Parts: sequence; C-alpha cells; structure tokens
Amino acid sequence: MDKLIIHGGRRLTGEVAVSGAKNAALPLLFATLLAPGPHRLGNLPQLRDITTAEHLLAGLGATVESRNGRVVLTSNTPATFEAPYELVRTMRASVLVLGPLLARYGLARVSLPGGCAIGARPINLHLKGLEAMGAEIHLDHGYVEARAKRLKGARIYLDLPTVGGTENLIMAATLAKGTTVLENAAREPEIVDLVRALQGMGAKIEGAGSDTVTIEGVDELKPMDYAVMPDRIEAGTLLLAAAMTAGQVRVLGARPEHNEALLSKLEEVGADIDIDEAGICVTGPGEICPVNIRTQPYPGFPTDMQAQFMALMAIGRGTSVVSETVFENRFMHVCELQRMGADINIDGHTATVQGVEQLLGAPVMATDLRASACLVLAGLAADNTTELSRIYHLDRGYEGLEQKLRKLGADIERVSA
Ligand code: EPZ
Repeated sequence: MDKLIIHGGRRLTGEVAVSGAKNAALPLLFATLLAPGPHRLGNLPQLRDITTAEHLLAGLGATVESRNGRVVLTSNTPATFEAPYELVRTMRASVLVLGPLLARYGLARVSLPGGCAIGARPINLHLKGLEAMGAEIHLDHGYVEARAKRLKGARIYLDLPTVGGTENLIMAATLAKGTTVLENAAREPEIVDLVRALQGMGAKIEGAGSDTVTIEGVDELKPMDYAVMPDRIEAGTLLLAAAMTAGQVRVLGARPEHNEALLSKLEEVGADIDIDEAGICVTGPGEICPVNIRTQPYPGFPTDMQAQFMALMAIGRGTSVVSETVFENRFMHVCELQRMGADINIDGHTATVQGVEQLLGAPVMATDLRASACLVLAGLAADNTTELSRIYHLDRGYEGLEQKLRKLGADIERVSA
C-alpha cells in the first residue's frame, strides 16, 4: 500500500487548479441511466470513486468511453438491474442508481451500503420517498429490491436534508407520472449541478438549491451534455494549506459562493482572502486566531471540511470548539492528530482544541477520506517528517493532491510501502 512522506515546515505559495467535484460527478454519472444517450460529461476528476462508478454503469448496460476526465456513454437496457455488494460497500454513492433505475425500468436491486467509518449512514429516507412515489420496496438478504410499474408524483417531506436522498428522489421524479414536491430538501451546490444537467436533458425541475424542489415528470429525457462543477471541498482543503503554513495560495476555478461558510471562518482566523474571476487566494495569518465551528447542512459549515479545519485549530493561538452535527463518528482523525502532539479533548459530538505551538511529525494512519486530508495538512505544518499510511482513503476524493501541493512548494512524496 502507498504512503505519503511529508517533510513539514515549508510555506506554500503559488497557484493551483481545482479539479471537478467528486460529489457532483457521481450523481451526474448515475443520472445517465435515465436516458439512452449518448451522454457526454466533462471535467470529471480522475479518482477511484469515478472509476468504480463507471464500472457499475457498465454492469448496468452502459458502454463507457473515458479519457482524460471526459466520458462518453450510452445507457441501454441492462441484463441485470443490480448494484452488487462488492461495489456498493466500496462506494456508498452506488445507492444513487436506485432512483434512475426505478424511474426508467421500474426495477432496481441495490445492496444496502452498510455503515462506514464516519457513521451508520442509513438510506431509510431514500426508500421512504420512493415508496411515497409508488415503489414496492423489500429487503432481501442485504439487498433492497424495488419495483414500480411507473412512479407517480408525490409530496415528500424529508426528515433530514439528506444530500443523497434528495438526489435519488429528484432523479426518480424526472420520469414519474405527475408532479413531485420535495420538502426539507438538501441545498448543496452539487444538487444544483445535477439539476442543471437534468434540465439540459429536458427535465422540468424548479427550486434546486432551496429547501423545496418541484419536479414535473416527463415521458423521456434527452442525452446529457455537461461539465462537472469545481470541487468546493478540494478547493477548501488547498486554501487551508495556505492558512496552515502562513503561505499564499490561489486556487484557480474555485467559486466563492460555494465556500462562503469556510471563507467567513478563515477571515475570523485572520487570513486575508482575495477573490477575483480566476479564483480564490488565501494568505495565511502570522498568528492563527482560534475559531469555533459547528457543521451543518449547506449553506452551513460543511462536515466535509471539519477534519481539515480542526488541523488548523490544532496550531491556533487558543481554544476552539468543533461540533460535528451531521455524522455520528467523524472524529477519527483526532487520535492521529494527538499522536502529532495536538491537544484535543472529545466530549460526544464536540471536540475542544487547545492550540499548540508546533505539531510534531509522526507516522499516522488515514481512517477515512477527509481524515486523510486533515493529516496531510497537519504534516505540512509539523516539524520533521510525517508518514501517512492507508492513503487509498485519500485517493478516493483527491486527484493528485501530492502533485498539487508539491507545485506549491511542499516537500511531499508518495512511496509504495
Ligand atoms: C453526501 O453523503 C456526501 N457524499 C458526503 O461526502 C457528505 O459528507 C454528505 O453528503 C453530507 O454533506 C456524496 O455526495 C457522494 P446525507 P450522503 O444523506 O448523501 C443521515 C465526502 O467526504 N441520513 O446528507 O450519504 C446520515 O446518516 C463524503 O466526500 C439518514 O439518517 O449524506 C447522515 O447522518 C462523506 N437517512 C446525515 O443524514 C437517510 O436516508 C447526512 O447524510 C439518509 C441520510
């Protein structure tokens, strides 16, 4: 398994381009199941999860031609309507085939994703919404089997603004008979991106980005021709690298409107932020002011930036309180940060971070995607050498992160253990 070796203490300076957003690319890829195509999707990040999604689509009747972040695919009636456990357990977003398969073919058999490092992550709200649209759902030896002659429009209240649930139900509703209204829908930019692509395919959708989304079903959809939005979490991670190292980094292609909560917190930290049409530039502060954060569904502070921000607070000049309200177990990075000398105390969903003068390089282990990013940032600011193992977690969500950081002056390299 590969490792990252980081010699800390370098100021990061320069420009780097952000890749396409993993969490927009995945629902966009699965949305191609809604129509025969040929579909064209560009600005795809070259990541393991994207490859996994393409393999899953191929198993569901698609022909996939993928080259340099662009994919052309057709989606024909599959021999099987099944998303198998071995794929779903490696990538939970595979459950997003449920809505499109049900909408187009009236049949889907998807492995229950099971839990993951950060939480139980049930899909009960996805299933409740599909049942409201007339699907018959039953559980069969770890699989969800769903059938529907034709989905019908329904008014669905989501107990939680679930991102994946909102995406699955919007996709399902595009071909349903009648109108569907999703209330308490998630508002993430990735959902707005998906809806823009669906509208380009002829879907009739209003309210994306608000908590009420209305979808008027149509009989069929045209091919997709779209380019994925920039990855706001990768952008945020790169900007935090500047703040961690008292550097200056401009992230080209980053959109400030996608990162307002993070940018507001970075200002409180004392960073200088410069925005222009090319992207976002952050100049790290000499002294990092301690700041409290509380993760919330969009537009609140993103849970996917919590671990990375905690790394910054670990070298803040004072005490910060980090509250994680979205997932029940998203503090796995804390014990690894403690190995690097961080002073953090966890009480339930709240971590109290007492900033230290300097983090100490150490061998640490990645446990999940964003925890990996947190430990890379910590290594950049730490003294001596940090060795990060199990970086297959990192490779799921960051396209060539070590190359991007090296371009900014970091001393970081990947070695095969
Ligand atoms: C998406 O996951 C993202 N993944 C996650 O990013 C992100 O952390 C999350 O949204 C929240 O922003 C993708 O887009 C591929 P949810 P998702 O459904 O859709 C509970 C990353 O690091 N819930 O909004 O699975 C659930 O348990 C990944 O890139 C139910 O209880 O998130 C969780 O506590 C990690 N029942 C909360 O809602 C349901 O039916 C938010 O989950 C669905 C969700």
